[in-house]
Amino acid sequence: MNVSDSEFFANILTTQYNCELTDDISNADIAIFNTCTVRQHAEDRALSIIGRLKRWKEESNGRLLVVCGCAVERLKDTLKTRFSFIDVLISSKDVLQFGEIIAKYLPIGQDRSKFIKNYPIIRNLGDKEKLQVTAFVPIMRGCNNFCSYCIVPYVRGEEYSIPPKEIFNEISYLVANGIREVTLIGQNVNSYRWKLENNTVHCCNNKEFVDFAGLLEEINKIDGLKRIRFLTNHPKDMNDRIISAVGNLEKVCKHIHLPLQSGSSRILQLMNRKYTKEEYLRLVDKIYSKIPNVSITTDIIVGFPTETEKDFKETLEVVSQVGFDNAFCFKYSVREMTAAAKNFVDDVPRKVKEERLAELLNLVNEIAYKKNKARIGKVEEILIEKISTTSNTTELIGRIDNNITTKVRVNENIYHLGDIVKVKIIDATTHTLFGKTVQ
Ligand code: 5AD
Ligand code: SF4
Repeated sequence: MNVSDSEFFANILTTQYNCELTDDISNADIAIFNTCTVRQHAEDRALSIIGRLKRWKEESNGRLLVVCGCAVERLKDTLKTRFSFIDVLISSKDVLQFGEIIAKYLPIGQDRSKFIKNYPIIRNLGDKEKLQVTAFVPIMRGCNNFCSYCIVPYVRGEEYSIPPKEIFNEISYLVANGIREVTLIGQNVNSYRWKLENNTVHCCNNKEFVDFAGLLEEINKIDGLKRIRFLTNHPKDMNDRIISAVGNLEKVCKHIHLPLQSGSSRILQLMNRKYTKEEYLRLVDKIYSKIPNVSITTDIIVGFPTETEKDFKETLEVVSQVGFDNAFCFKYSVREMTAAAKNFVDDVPRKVKEERLAELLNLVNEIAYKKNKARIGKVEEILIEKISTTSNTTELIGRIDNNITTKVRVNENIYHLGDIVKVKIIDATTHTLFGKTVQ
């Protein structure tokens, strides 16, 4: 979501203000620093980088430093006093007002009445050589789930769905500009819901609501779009309609990111996740039986308050049982305002959290490696996202439908970004596959 928000900021500056993006901050007149606060570590890094930006800000007159995002929502006053050199602070709750807020600080603005009030449908996709072929498309913002460890509902605010018409317009615009794969994003896309009023949307006729499965069905019809991915899901809202949509719609990739968080039903209850270990496992069984060759990935937290060795072992068991293709694993981090911070003591020692994380990562990587090795010999399709050429080699880089990065050496560069190419997998590491092209 932060990557997508940052793109949105960049698009406003490039399309409304004639700004150009630069990779080198010493050339920049404006620096926009987007922050995360989901774990303490992210916030600490943000503060340390902001500290270092003081030099950049003072090196030349007229530079503008803008700090945005979730850490701003949480720490506005601290940031103002500790880093008085910041020119503009924009909270994660005001992302969509970026254009109006920044207008007050930029002398080079064009027609200010043109600011996009609600949702961006303008993107500067850069020159054709660097053609971007994949894009994030937010379909929801905010979150109402209040998992007890999580700060997101406090810093991003209430959940709401973006109207289908705006989503279709945005995707059609992106496709017309070379995008071939979209990743629909939201904190919990499974709870997407839009009430249709008479003929307000040109599709989805005769229905009262568009739910997430309905949205996938409609997006699947967009000409020129080759692939649809989505992030992230919540097991409590992953229903049969969504599973069938993923299984049946040809453009929807067979990959589901299904955050587990813990394999212990006791911890899941304390986390306010609203499912048990057994319910999660039943859901996974259903997904495996309804969607052949699906890959499932997950998020897991170790060291949640009161987590015992027995609870942790249950997490390891679930990981083995499900056989995740990959997992993002985190040490529990206390977040102010959350229910867990108020009601529990952070009682799992840091060393224990680190040991559990290392053990979990070993298992996750071992399984991912085995699953990737089992893909050797299979023919898969990759969407080319990058072509890297040296004097004597050309390498195509993309992902298979299951979302695993795949590299393919070719002799002749007859390929284009955005092409779908058939490849036979010839080798594998934990996170990468290697393939050769087949006819
Ligand atoms: N501590 C550790 N991990 C967290 N996550 C969210 N909040 C915390 C926290 N307080 C993890 C969850 C979530 C992912 C995006 O970040 O696993 O799914
Ligand atoms: Fe946080 Fe839970 Fe919402 Fe995900 S679903 S953003 S973990 S509160």
